[in-house]
Amino acid sequence: MSNKIKNICCIGAGYVGGPTMSVFADKCPEITINVVDLNSKRIEEWNEKDLTKLPIYEPGLTKIISRCRDRNLFFSTDIERNLEKADMIFISVNTPTKKSGIGAGKASDLSYVEASTRQIAKHAKTNTIIVEKSTLPVRTADTIKKILFNVDACNDNSEIKKNFDILSNPEFLSEGNAIKDLESPDRVLIGGENEEAINELKNIYLNWVDYKKIITTNLWSAELSKLASNAFLAQRISSINSLSALCEASGADIKEVQIAIGSDSRIGNKFINPGPGFGGSCFKKDILNLVYLCEFYNLREVALYWQNILDLNQWQKNRLTKIVVEKLFGNISEKKIAILGFAFKSKTNDTRESSAIDICKNLLQEGANLSIYDPKVKDIQIENELNLKQNINLETHNKANWNFSKSIQICVEGADAILILTEWEEFEYLDWNMISKKMRKPSWIFDTRCTNNIDLAKKYGLNIWKLGNGKS
Ligand code: NAD
Ligand code: UDX
Repeated sequence: MSNKIKNICCIGAGYVGGPTMSVFADKCPEITINVVDLNSKRIEEWNEKDLTKLPIYEPGLTKIISRCRDRNLFFSTDIERNLEKADMIFISVNTPTKKSGIGAGKASDLSYVEASTRQIAKHAKTNTIIVEKSTLPVRTADTIKKILFNVDACNDNSEIKKNFDILSNPEFLSEGNAIKDLESPDRVLIGGENEEAINELKNIYLNWVDYKKIITTNLWSAELSKLASNAFLAQRISSINSLSALCEASGADIKEVQIAIGSDSRIGNKFINPGPGFGGSCFKKDILNLVYLCEFYNLREVALYWQNILDLNQWQKNRLTKIVVEKLFGNISEKKIAILGFAFKSKTNDTRESSAIDICKNLLQEGANLSIYDPKVKDIQIENELNLKQNINLETHNKANWNFSKSIQICVEGADAILILTEWEEFEYLDWNMISKKMRKPSWIFDTRCTNNIDLAKKYGLNIWKLGNGKS
């Protein structure tokens, strides 16, 4: 379907750039796609022969990589050369929350976007279409334009100023489901000013996406729609989580309430699973960004409204820690707590902003010894997230500590409590007989994910606390 676009370069080989371009390459074999990144380790991992060592775990990804890599999909650190060849360039770099300076803690840090844009201004050929894939504050395309059209580097040795078209094409994939989301998206959003450029990108998607699902808007609507979508999704989770606390207090059951609410077709039953609070690299950062934008436009009430979604999320994590401490006689110092799940959700190895981080930090502050098991997360990741080396206080045995367990069996050995934090499927089929024999009594199970089959544990004398269950 695609017309002029024969060569695509994507800057950023992360959770979005890698899977997105893999699906593009799979669906458009006639287009050559180069995914570039300045992180050479990441690129090496994308080029790994052993596909279990790809930098990202996503169901279905390895099959696509084995079909397309070195055919029309390439991963490289050679940014300049690949920018020069491209007819279309995707910016898919990270846009974290600013850590310092104006807007610190809320606004997006656009330094990676700016650096990429400067590289594009310098190396890309004229008439290249630039696509914002990263999630960006409204009107970032203005900034990109200003850089593209004003950087001295526009043409080192030519009088002719380069021309670029800018499109906003935010990505709505959710991790763990990325390939399915990319292959059959609910919608594809393309914002832009130039119809010809919009059509070039549209034609690429038409290779596998129904035209009815492709929405075209102006640039600012596309940029804002991405932030707004994430805010709406996060709002549903904070709403159900707020009710989980009310259920516990009033004797209701959040799972029953969830079914009752979700059966109203106007509300719908998706994305209202109660849990330990939302994590992931997007929701918090994007809502903070939305709050910052509202404040910037002097919309104080709107800013406060969205800020509340984040505050409730933090409250949920803190209150879960308090419940664990209270149930374990108000003291968890040197008690062993087995943490099942550290990823921010199942089917991913991503731990960014995982609720497990704050909850584990809280428990460590209370002096607990944590044993952490996750089927996909590596110990080094946990070490970085907790900012604490494992087994550091083993010799003294008198301070908070954590270690990584390779199996559930080892994880629960001698534990006073088990805390289920990620909804991995294997946690629905735990061997409670084995577990009850390994734990110290009285043994507690804290289930923050409303895990199926959890009630079986009662049969083996384990105490169960269930999120949102006023009777447990
Ligand atoms: P990531 O951190 O996994 O990947 C970004 C990559 O960009 C990194 O590998 C980094 O080294 C690279 N990079 C940064 N500056 C560069 C430069 N100048 N040149 C070359 N490479 C550079 O981030 P991500 O999770 O893929 O997210 C990327 C963007 O997509 C963000 O704006 C995010 O909000 C958005 N997004 C993420 C998701 C998600 O599920 N993770 C979903 C939708 C949208
Ligand atoms: C999110 C958006 O869903 C996606 O559209 C966007 O492109 C990127 O941000 P992601 O962060 O990958 O995707 O995962 P998501 O499935 O949205 O889950 C985010 C967090 O919410 C997780 O911690 C998850 O456990 C939690 N969650 C999700 C719930 O607690 N309950 C739910 O019903 C759904």
